[in-house]
Amino acid sequence: MGAKIIAINGSPRAKGNTHYALNIIKEELAPLGVEVEIVHIGHKAIHGCIACGKCKESGDGRCAIKGDEVNEMIGRMTEADGIIIGSPVYYSGIAGGMKCFLDRVFYASSSLKPFKGKIGASVVALRRGGGTTTFSALNYYLHIAQMRMVGSQYWNMIHGRLPGEAALDEEGVATMRTLAQNIAQELLEIKN
Ligand SMILES: Cc1cc2nc3c(=O)[nH]c(=O)nc-3n(C[C@H](O)[C@H](O)[C@H](O)COP(=O)(O)O)c2cc1C
Repeated sequence: MGAKIIAINGSPRAKGNTHYALNIIKEELAPLGVEVEIVHIGHKAIHGCIACGKCKESGDGRCAIKGDEVNEMIGRMTEADGIIIGSPVYYSGIAGGMKCFLDRVFYASSSLKPFKGKIGASVVALRRGGGTTTFSALNYYLHIAQMRMVGSQYWNMIHGRLPGEAALDEEGVATMRTLAQNIAQELLEIKN
């Protein structure tokens, strides 16, 4: 198909359960000609939005805080056909570093609407509780960016505590596979 998806791993863990879920999607989409690049962001020192308003003044769609991954990622996400945002559940919410990243990426870029019409999906990894609240919180970014949000047979979540435990969550694994198939279907519609 020749499409490219950027999948953000918002966990501090490079190879934890969030990565595991994103990697299922990557493996499912590869034979369909969709490249998924997993970018690890959750371990980076990314400052939160400081509400300086400079992105609105300049209208350049970039954050005034320089020196971290935010502006580069706005560019890479803009070039992609779709974006998946993945986070572990921390206290029933988005992991802190990932929230800092998402606030700045989506707020700074919003004047240019660079993600409008692209595929967007959220994925969460959790031990037991707070999956739906975190899933909702992630979806707010995709929704306000006017993306084509993709779902699955269940909300896009996978259960496990220690890295690798998500493999034992058969329903979660199946949910990620179906999500990948639905992403492929949406991509076909966009590309044709
Ligand atoms: C600070 C912290 C807070 C957590 N809060 C929750 C929580 O509210 N609900 C839950 O089910 N699991 C919670 N967990 C467990 C993680 O969501 C779970 O281990 C998940 O699989 C981690 O994904 P990762 O391996 O991609 O980091 C928390 C873990 C940490 C470190």
